[in-house]
Amino acid sequence: MTKAPAGLNICGARVFYRGQLREGCISISEGRIIFIGKEAHAPKAEEEVRAEGLLALPGPIDAHVHLRDEGLAYKEDFWTGTCAAVTGGITSVLDMPNTVPPVDSAERLAERARKAEERAVANVGFYCLFPAELSELPRVAEIGAVAIKAYLHKPLTRLDISDEATLVKAVELANRVGLPVAFHAEDPRVIAEAAETVGGEGDPVSVFLTSHPPEAELKAVERLASLLAGRRVHICHVSVPGALKAAKRAGFTIEATPHHLFLTSDLYGRLGTLALVDPPLRPGDVVARLRQALYAGQIDLVASDHAPHALEEKLGPGPVPPGFPGLETLLPLLLNEVAERRLSLAELVRLVCEGPARVFGLDRGRLEVGWPADLVLVDLKAELVVRPGDFRSKAKYSPFEGMRLRGRPVMTVVNGVVAFREGEVVAEPGCGTMLRPKRSPGGLRP
Ligand code: NCD
Ligand code: ZN
Ligand code: ZN
Ligand code: ZN
Repeated sequence: MTKAPAGLNICGARVFYRGQLREGCISISEGRIIFIGKEAHAPKAEEEVRAEGLLALPGPIDAHVHLRDEGLAYKEDFWTGTCAAVTGGITSVLDMPNTVPPVDSAERLAERARKAEERAVANVGFYCLFPAELSELPRVAEIGAVAIKAYLHKPLTRLDISDEATLVKAVELANRVGLPVAFHAEDPRVIAEAAETVGGEGDPVSVFLTSHPPEAELKAVERLASLLAGRRVHICHVSVPGALKAAKRAGFTIEATPHHLFLTSDLYGRLGTLALVDPPLRPGDVVARLRQALYAGQIDLVASDHAPHALEEKLGPGPVPPGFPGLETLLPLLLNEVAERRLSLAELVRLVCEGPARVFGLDRGRLEVGWPADLVLVDLKAELVVRPGDFRSKAKYSPFEGMRLRGRPVMTVVNGVVAFREGEVVAEPGCGTMLRPKRSPGGLRP
């Protein structure tokens, strides 16, 4: 091992390295890990962090985040959103394109990435909607989108993806240039029919629940499975076990969210519209089966679907937008599963580090010499009570409010820069970088 001088040594933690925990030192220089091993052999460093009693994990990647900004900056912006990320122990986020204006072209993608890079303290990768002209897909890939995002029930794109032949061709072309396609899978017809039966009458929660039944998701995934089996397709926020099974059979990758795994529709009685989210929280028996699938290793990644809205919007009156913040609760909720011994640490790392890296082809999510120095130090014994009033997100409410969890992020390092430490964001805007996937030729899985 060479002894090049290191900028930062993190020593004394138990390091999750190649599938195991080993006590030692991580040395970082110029944004990269240059050494992992016994402290006696670590290169000298200008700064040393002592991390006794803590675990060092690869930097988690939250694969489903709405950073908003631009026309929706009142809900969240690149700075507050990525501050929320590093406070929650997350080093990378993948940003959704349902923005104002939407990210629906190569030009918009480049513009949004440029703005984000100036302000972000976490790394940001970008989804793009299908461009109106499919001939633009190679350019979208070249600029570095992590995936195409398709909303089946509200397309947001001028391309008519309600037409099956168009959809199949679009996915094929996206895959061919190395872009997976991620779906919000709810069938528009089931939603419209169910909405008609309630006719908008009643309280906003029951109207939403009736118009977004489990069948809408099941039907949508089954249709995608019949059209696109074997393609590089990713299903976002799976909330019903039947949809998960259909997606798996078709060879799709699967995302689940903490709220669909750990909360039930009973919460609507207490929190009302605040807990509205799309897809909605499901009944206890459905949630229990989804959680069994998680423990059985059937889910590729867990992501927050951080979907901040202004509190006034969430409380109504008026149409209540679905979604709530999740960046600051994602990792603590999963650490709690590890602390309670329902999930192994290796499974946690697979679900929030290796899984997202594999699905989107990112060179992140592992602690390895030569790799970018993204990591989080966590204290698995410390208690954390979810207090949304203290969130760094602009959205200071949470359906997880008041939960007592075991395990909390203590320090977050992004590209070798300490971004969060002792409860504070300590990095300057701009230490995050744009994540560009490595493309696999021919649209094969990486
Ligand atoms: C998301 C949002 O607010 O952008 N809302 C949500 O309830 N999940 C949209 C989405 O992810 O479908
Ligand atoms: Zn050694
Ligand atoms: Zn969605
Ligand atoms: Zn979302």
